[in-house]
Amino acid sequence: MNPQTSIIWSENTPLTRKFIWQHPLHGGNKMEDLQSVIKSRRSIRKFLPDTISDDDIREIVDAGMNAPSGCNSQCWQFVAVKDKSLLGKIAEGAEKGIREFYNDANYEPAYMEARSKKATFFANAPLVLFVFMTKLHYYDEQATKYYETLGYSHETMMSALGSPDILSIGASIQNMLLTIHQKGLGACWMNDPIAAQANICSVLDVPGTWRLISVIPIGKPAYHPRDKQLKAMEEVLIIR
Ligand SMILES: Cc1cc2nc3c(=O)[nH]c(=O)nc-3n(C[C@H](O)[C@H](O)[C@H](O)COP(=O)(O)O)c2cc1C
Repeated sequence: MNPQTSIIWSENTPLTRKFIWQHPLHGGNKMEDLQSVIKSRRSIRKFLPDTISDDDIREIVDAGMNAPSGCNSQCWQFVAVKDKSLLGKIAEGAEKGIREFYNDANYEPAYMEARSKKATFFANAPLVLFVFMTKLHYYDEQATKYYETLGYSHETMMSALGSPDILSIGASIQNMLLTIHQKGLGACWMNDPIAAQANICSVLDVPGTWRLISVIPIGKPAYHPRDKQLKAMEEVLIIR
């Protein structure tokens, strides 16, 4: 743990001290553990058939539910699918939807085959988490009304505000990916299937107001991922 962090915190208000007391990262070298989990996580796309327990599913989703969200809206919903026959139906719908989506592109059949395989490999995992976004209710009603008078829809208003709804879902997904990895499981954050979201939502029979944001196949990794080359710090960071 960074000693500086603990000094700053311990000099803070009683409320913050309570926070430190309850904070699971306080003390020991747990912060190093977090760094190693963050740095060793990789996308996994092939899985062993071992099933994932409901307790594990709940712990993974619990991590997602603890993410920050715009206006604390917690604008997420999760559907965890283990049922192989349901996954087969979802993959079938997804493949059809992907083919329809790229229909006008006139792609070579071989390319189209590869495209649809890339978008449906999630169905080979023992568990697939479908992550949905519900409506984020912006806390400032006056501002919301003003956006409406200007003709903004909810979506365009969110976009003007920097898409806090989608960012919140992203934070939730990253929390889950790290938890999955910490458990010795693997996962892949997938957005390729989203082009077929109407078909997927129809098979899952979820409310029409839910928007499918990402699909996350989860399971025991069937291989060791290759090393990843990161960009140089100087390339991505400016300190002024
Ligand atoms: C928003 C988002 C969408 C992604 N969609 C897909 C996808 O549809 N299919 C896939 O195989 N990987 C997908 N990925 C995984 C990325 O390819 C992967 O994170 C990237 O190559 C870095 O590798 P790493 O996760 O092993 O660090 C997605 C990642 C993110 C963040």
